[in-house]
Amino acid sequence: MLTDSHAHLDMLEEDLDGVLRRAREAGVRRIITIGVDLESSSRAVRMAERLGGVFAAVGFHPHDAADADKEQLAALSELALHPRVVAWGEIGLDFYRRLSPPDRQEEVFRAQLERAGDLGLPVVIHDRDAHDEVLSILRRMGTGPGRGVIHCFSGDLDLAMAFIDLGYYISIPGTVTFPNAARVRETAKNIPLERLLVETDAPFLAPVPMRGKRNEPAYVKWTALEIARLRGIPLDEVARLSTENAARLFGLNSDDPS
Ligand code: NI
Repeated sequence: MLTDSHAHLDMLEEDLDGVLRRAREAGVRRIITIGVDLESSSRAVRMAERLGGVFAAVGFHPHDAADADKEQLAALSELALHPRVVAWGEIGLDFYRRLSPPDRQEEVFRAQLERAGDLGLPVVIHDRDAHDEVLSILRRMGTGPGRGVIHCFSGDLDLAMAFIDLGYYISIPGTVTFPNAARVRETAKNIPLERLLVETDAPFLAPVPMRGKRNEPAYVKWTALEIARLRGIPLDEVARLSTENAARLFGLNSDDPS
């Protein structure tokens, strides 16, 4: 059994039945579907409400930080009370594309860390070209056991260990299968197995051999396979441990996969 710890199912809605069927056939029994703004967060919650094995995270992506005013954050806090909401995210900093001004990104990131802390929800962190800033903000206000996950991890092993020391899990995406991904492979091979999650970030970043296609949760098995190969352990063990880790982090019960 596999858990896709990070997918955007609301972006796959036109083919959702097929996506979920192929996920089941691939052994993917749990999917965390992630919001990036108020609208997609509500859609994530509605999906989690009606689909067995699907859980929601709500949050403002750094790209959308410019739109996150007080009212929208208050509305998100309301949504976050729903029993199928298992995390706050994705939130963080993106200094690569800078679609929202960096100051605004930091402000909205900190505000959301505070709210997640108040609600006792783990956080799903997006960090692109902002490693030092994300690390120092989390050091100041996001520390503690099971505090969250660094999604689509793109740093090096030292950075991964620094996040792990703060209480975070590291989620390995399909990029681990890319030929030029030496850093991600080194991380996937060496971090403690009890802190490892796997994800697709579907519909983005499909792993080899599906690279270039639209990504979907079924393809998380290619990522898990590559990690098993790198670590010299059976696929089953990667699947079991990463699923247990996700269940621990997100507080998922054994009654759900459907
Ligand atoms: Ni994402």
